[in-house]
Amino acid sequence: IADAVTLANGVRMPWVGLGVWRVEDGDVVINSVKAALAAGYRSIDTAAIYRNEEGVGRAIAESGIPRDELFITTKVWNADQGYDSTLRAFEASMEKLGLETLDLYLIHWPMPKKGRFKETWKALEKLYKEKRVRAIGVSNFQPAHLDALMADAEVKPMVNQVELHPRLAQRELREYCRRHGIQIEAWSPLGQGQLLEDPTLKEIAQKYGKTTAQVILRWDLQNGVVVIPKSVNADRIASNAQLFDFELSAEDMARIDALDCGGRIGPDPDVLETE
Ligand code: A2P
Repeated sequence: IADAVTLANGVRMPWVGLGVWRVEDGDVVINSVKAALAAGYRSIDTAAIYRNEEGVGRAIAESGIPRDELFITTKVWNADQGYDSTLRAFEASMEKLGLETLDLYLIHWPMPKKGRFKETWKALEKLYKEKRVRAIGVSNFQPAHLDALMADAEVKPMVNQVELHPRLAQRELREYCRRHGIQIEAWSPLGQGQLLEDPTLKEIAQKYGKTTAQVILRWDLQNGVVVIPKSVNADRIASNAQLFDFELSAEDMARIDALDCGGRIGPDPDVLETE
């Protein structure tokens, strides 16, 4: 899984990472991250609100893998949006992760009504200029939020991490981000597991002798989308990263594209205001 994409600023980001949303801190997250690192993953995606940064940090430290081989992402939570509060939240995350520098720091949700994402972005730009973070980006941003953010940003976001899977393919957003040099990253690429029972996907998986999860994740890669599937099971973690030994035909890609129905599982980014 050394395969990585080059972000707009030249930083290399692995195509596949481990997602740890809803993975309990302590042994559960430590074991998941260790299983991923043993299987060859080098990218881990956490967030302050997941409350498992300590476990992630512990697994990283105990793995003995050189820091520069790893790609660690975390996110500033909604309640911490604003300039000073973001800088404080960043230090708190770094303390928990036990890291000096971070690979990718994201604004977790735009929270458009709160209207503070521009101040939050200023803090991310400062951290980026000071080289505390190798890349900065956003999560759950729609084109309108990105337009507003970039209108007076010094540094463009390098990544936008959004809900994306065959039922919510995000074609328009993908096209927008492609035009602006923003790498798209999919959270809940397996639709939180719900897509694994889809008959079309199961049939395609059978044809290639792959798991349904591998077919979905391969569809992302062929669309230029970074993936961070979540699993707490070592075998599933390992198999979810075995995506580089087969290729979906154009016809099967189109069949998967046809499953898009705008079916969101998570919150609507224009509406979510949770702190
Ligand atoms: P588990 O952690 O028990 O493996 P998403 O990344 O879209 O949020 O999906 C995560 C969900 O899918 C979790 O419930 C996870 O359960 C399950 N999952 C992840 N990988 C696989 C797989 N290869 N086969 C079956 N279920 C999987």
